[in-house]
Amino acid sequence: MEDLQGRTAVVTGAASGIGAALARVLAAEGCRVVVSDVELDGAAAVADAITADGGSALAVRTDVADRGSVQELAAAARERFGLVHLLCNNAGVSYHRRGIHATYEDWRWVLGVNLDGVVHGITEFLPDMLDSGQECHIVNTASMNGIVPSAQSAMYSASKYGVVGLTETLHNELAGTRVGVTALCPAGVRTRITDSVRNRPAEAATADDTRPAHVPSGSFDLSPALDPEVVARMTVGGVREGRLYVFTDPKVKDLIVAHRERMLADFAPLDAFLAAR
Ligand SMILES: NC(=O)c1ccc[n+]([C@@H]2O[C@H](COP(=O)([O-])OP(=O)(O)OC[C@H]3O[C@@H](n4cnc5c(N)ncnc54)[C@H](O)[C@@H]3O)[C@@H](O)[C@H]2O)c1
Repeated sequence: MEDLQGRTAVVTGAASGIGAALARVLAAEGCRVVVSDVELDGAAAVADAITADGGSALAVRTDVADRGSVQELAAAARERFGLVHLLCNNAGVSYHRRGIHATYEDWRWVLGVNLDGVVHGITEFLPDMLDSGQECHIVNTASMNGIVPSAQSAMYSASKYGVVGLTETLHNELAGTRVGVTALCPAGVRTRITDSVRNRPAEAATADDTRPAHVPSGSFDLSPALDPEVVARMTVGGVREGRLYVFTDPKVKDLIVAHRERMLADFAPLDAFLAAR
């Protein structure tokens, strides 16, 4: 989608960090923007700033983990602006707790926002995009931890591997249509992601919270964390070029190569097993 002028974009998780930057950059490119977040005040502040700058924006409170809430978001966007051409499934949470120490509620919260949230966005927006026959695009915010395991949380990687897998598959399935799809895979970005618990709903809280203090299971050699505005501009560049992936840190390349080599090392010769039959 080369020309963004006059398009309508929906960005989830747009009250803060990468989502807020995406909303601002897309508005500057001439998009009408639906600024959606579970924190309505933050979303309204971003939408107001866009409007004050002469853009067109609508703030909507949405909990992406709740399918009904995403259905309401789609209806509000349609009613105000018509067809949504660009959907950024960006809302996400990170919880620094090893999978071995996680409660069921921890798993459900992280998977509910990070993976179900993307599924809800796709099911509610993609059919209209395909029916329209117009040029449309979906950006799913994954992470480098959708390709290389997280040092912080098995829950986070499970959710982000899911986002990468569904995005790659959609890319294949959408061949021959006018809908493109991109997996945004950032490394470090200066946002409020490490304070994600601020949005953890009471019903998703863990009753038994006597788990051990968190210790990461590894570490990565990464570049200094980026300003979210830079990541937003890289993302818009990826949409323009129709790229399947947007990576934000060149250092992740070596991590991916090492990870794939580790994976390939576990291929065992088949002969011994075939002979045993
Ligand atoms: N910051 C990083 O280093 C980094 C790296 C890789 C991937 N990411 C991904 O980028 C995305 C954006 O995160 P960020 O870093 O800007 O963090 P952030 O915390 O600054 O922003 C995330 C936004 O999502 C919103 N949100 C949380 N739960 C929600 C829900 N249930 N429904 C709707 N909105 C909800 C929050 O209110 C917040 O405004 C996430 O998907 C995250 O996993 C971030």
